[in-house]
Amino acid sequence: MSLLVSSRFDREADLVLFEGDCLRLLPDIPDGSVRLVVTSPPYNLGKSYESKLELDEYIVQQRAVIEQCVRVLHPQGSICWQVGNYVDNGEIVPLDIVLYPIFASLGLHLRNRIVWHFGHGLHASRRFSGRYEVILWFTKSDDYVFNLDAVRVPQKYPSKKYFKGSKRGQLSCNPLGKNPSDVWEIPNVKANHVEKTIHPCQFPIELIERLVLAMTNEGDWVLDPFLGVGTTAIAALAHSRRAIGAEIMPEYVRLARERVRQAEEGKLRVRPMERPVYDPAAPHQNLPPQTLSIGAAPRAVQPTLLDASTPYTPPEVGE
Ligand SMILES: C[S@@+](CC[C@H](N)C(=O)[O-])C[C@H]1O[C@@H](n2cnc3c(N)ncnc32)[C@H](O)[C@@H]1O
Repeated sequence: MSLLVSSRFDREADLVLFEGDCLRLLPDIPDGSVRLVVTSPPYNLGKSYESKLELDEYIVQQRAVIEQCVRVLHPQGSICWQVGNYVDNGEIVPLDIVLYPIFASLGLHLRNRIVWHFGHGLHASRRFSGRYEVILWFTKSDDYVFNLDAVRVPQKYPSKKYFKGSKRGQLSCNPLGKNPSDVWEIPNVKANHVEKTIHPCQFPIELIERLVLAMTNEGDWVLDPFLGVGTTAIAALAHSRRAIGAEIMPEYVRLARERVRQAEEGKLRVRPMERPVYDPAAPHQNLPPQTLSIGAAPRAVQPTLLDASTPYTPPEVGE
């Protein structure tokens, strides 16, 4: 079954791909309809797609988008805001520190500050070279989707057993794998990455796949207000979720559409989630690139829409 793609918000679509300012798309999305918002906003660094603003003005613009994202977020939903540093005259301003108060003032709960560590980037000469960015993961309530088993990673010693006590001889670690922790080592998309396009800072698909699998269920909507070349949409569609994205640069929208088409045809080459970071001492561990295949979300699973007539009260849950 082929994907239903719409250029405006449409409840029936598998993919909403809006060309323009996200603030013109967001008001059309119903309250409480999106299970996961995941994005990397412009960092205000004067990249080709942005004009550098004073920091105060940047924060005001971000607040307007974040307020809309919180409005459309499902009560059991999550927001993942992926940011690095704003750099001014050689001085760094970590954007997560600057943006956190906006989310807190809107009543969101911070669950993790995930450190995304990668090996490549600019070589600094007057400070240490930056090799991580962060993902602030917020939820709207204490009752939220978190599918840990879907994202477990291999245990270091999978066959380790208890050697004494009542559990002697039993496996001492979860056979499904371990919690991936809040430090993620995933290569960033630089020149020789199999997913590289002309975009200067696209997400690796595997980074978003982990968030989609952990924080949503099949059929749910995933929103990226700053979609770039469509990575969030591809990661969502690859796992039978639906995607909504806005992108202001027509060339990136065209590339997003092209990448989705390639994935529909089973031809989009990606770095597999299971591939370890390259270790020159163990090159045999390397997994080759894979091709990704996507199709329409199962029609039996309808996106969860909040019934506006029923006020939502989050259940009381413990730590
Ligand atoms: C950091 S990049 C995101 C890249 C994306 N994660 C990907 O994998 O391709 C931010 C993107 O936001 C876009 N953008 C900037 N302002 C925007 C706005 N007001 N509405 C929609 N998109 C915008 C930029 O053109 C840029 O592609």
